[in-house]
Amino acid sequence: PINFRGRSVLSLEPFTPAEIRHLLRLSAELKAAKLAGTEVPHLLRKNIALIFEKDSTRTRTGFEVAAYDQGAHVTYLGPSGSQIGHKESMKDTARVLGRIYDAIEYRGFGQSIVEELAAFAGVPVYNGLTDEFHPTQTLADFLTMREFTHKHLSDMAVVFMGDTRNNVARSLALGGVKMGMDVRLCGPAALHPDEGFRAHIAAIGAATGGTLTVTESVDVGCRGADFVYTDVWLSMGEPEARWAERIALLQPYQVNAAAMAKTGNPYAKFMHCLPAFHDDKTEVGAQIKAKFGLDCMEVTDEVFESPASIVFDQAENRMHTIKALLVATIGS
Ligand code: CP
Ligand code: NVA
Repeated sequence: PINFRGRSVLSLEPFTPAEIRHLLRLSAELKAAKLAGTEVPHLLRKNIALIFEKDSTRTRTGFEVAAYDQGAHVTYLGPSGSQIGHKESMKDTARVLGRIYDAIEYRGFGQSIVEELAAFAGVPVYNGLTDEFHPTQTLADFLTMREFTHKHLSDMAVVFMGDTRNNVARSLALGGVKMGMDVRLCGPAALHPDEGFRAHIAAIGAATGGTLTVTESVDVGCRGADFVYTDVWLSMGEPEARWAERIALLQPYQVNAAAMAKTGNPYAKFMHCLPAFHDDKTEVGAQIKAKFGLDCMEVTDEVFESPASIVFDQAENRMHTIKALLVATIGS
């Protein structure tokens, strides 16, 4: 029997494929109910703390609106303004917030921090992004992939292009292979995930039929892919001193029209967790333009704005899948 009650979600690691399919089904039901105006609140009188040690648009608003739609209240605790990290340890914070809230979301740095929070809170803790994993992103990605193909997750092929060691890539690889997908991580060898991680994912695949291909070849990575996925080359916290080196390494893995064509699949879709550097119309974009002469980084504006791009569907689905997580873990 599937039972999420009281469980934390720190990565997709402990969840079975059947449990993940259950969450996706619940997400689709909640999405349909919201659109139809028939949503029933399952989180009345629940309070959720949202800790953000890094910035966010989608994850924060996803949690807030999901909670409000379902009748819960939230408290946002940003990088400053609370005692967290300055005067109070995560262990103490966990024990305080666990007395006051029904659940806690955490976005920040090391995975060990969110693990410590979960170990001492006594209430469900959700990972809203750490340096290692971004599980709620992957759930939204899966819902979106299902909406844009007639395939089961186990019949899909996805290539992640670029920084294949980052949180989004690792979560996609873990979750995708678990669901039986053909997952390719395509980027420079210097940024490939370590051998231990790859062996672990391969072992999961041996049980589920999923496969992980780690390659430097854009041809190998893209051939036959249903989805071409990328993320920023400079994740939050990446020291500026390393930008030039990373940009040079990652340039060949930009998702442009040529890379999309390499799929050989006219229906291939473009995915990105966002925010994306597809033009120079942001503060960082302008900085990159001034420093490196680039108009875009991981994806061209052409691909980002093309009909193949499903990035805003992904963004919307963050909210629906987070809602499913809340309902499944603390809902009545
Ligand atoms: N994709 C994602 O997590 O976006 P935010 O950083 O805006 O939350
Ligand atoms: N890899 C990015 C994802 C942002 C949602 C980062 O960690 O900044």
